[in-house]
Amino acid sequence: MLIDTHAHLNAEQFDEDRDEVIARARDNGVDTIVNIGFNRETIPTCIELAEKYDFIYAVVGWHPQDAITMTDADLEWIEELAKHPKVVGIGEMGLDYYWDTSPKDVQKEVFRKQIRLARKLQMPIIIHDRDAHQDIIDILREEKAEEVGGIMHCFSGSSEIAKMALDMNFYISFGGPLTFKNAKKPKEVVMEVPLDRLLIETDCPYLTPHPFRGKRNETGYVRYVCEEMANLHGMSYEEMAKITSDNARRVFGLPPIQR
Ligand code: NI
Repeated sequence: MLIDTHAHLNAEQFDEDRDEVIARARDNGVDTIVNIGFNRETIPTCIELAEKYDFIYAVVGWHPQDAITMTDADLEWIEELAKHPKVVGIGEMGLDYYWDTSPKDVQKEVFRKQIRLARKLQMPIIIHDRDAHQDIIDILREEKAEEVGGIMHCFSGSSEIAKMALDMNFYISFGGPLTFKNAKKPKEVVMEVPLDRLLIETDCPYLTPHPFRGKRNETGYVRYVCEEMANLHGMSYEEMAKITSDNARRVFGLPPIQR
């Protein structure tokens, strides 16, 4: 059984067939989904889904691309929602220097505020890092993020960056890009991360794995990420599914599953 640790089933790309996508995920062996709501529009749907399905959990926070829109009231809103029994983490937060839709200093400030909130709430942090590896590490260090740890989502950094994140109690999560033939770096990093810190995710509807690259991603495709990770480590699909599920349950504090 699989856990998709990072999905956006709240995205509008699923408005037409959300329930079918969730049913297909179950058919593909996904027993638990963690959905990420990351701004004013996506957070409410994220909570609704977590209330509708017992196997769906929620993470709430503010995406760096939307950093410019986050007010103090939004931060209080996130704090309030974090008390919801199905909310299991804070994020996704971080820095995005690729799209650069919010000024860097604003992104950094919003990132710091959310790390402080996660520490106050003692909840794991979900990191979005696009072309900002060293700045992310520096801020995590300065803000003492190791106190709560969390997840480097859809990790795209080097082994050195991974090591620094691991030292701060972070798990390293891989998504669709791991399955791409030319994905040399992630395939190398997967081998460097201790087995008890590996996670799998889709980030659906984005980052669709091979063989569906170019189409809309969905949670059921997390199996292709698990397959690739198992192949790289020379172990069975079932073994890798169990390892990554156990890790996901640990980092999010989810109840153990009966096997
Ligand atoms: Ni995401």
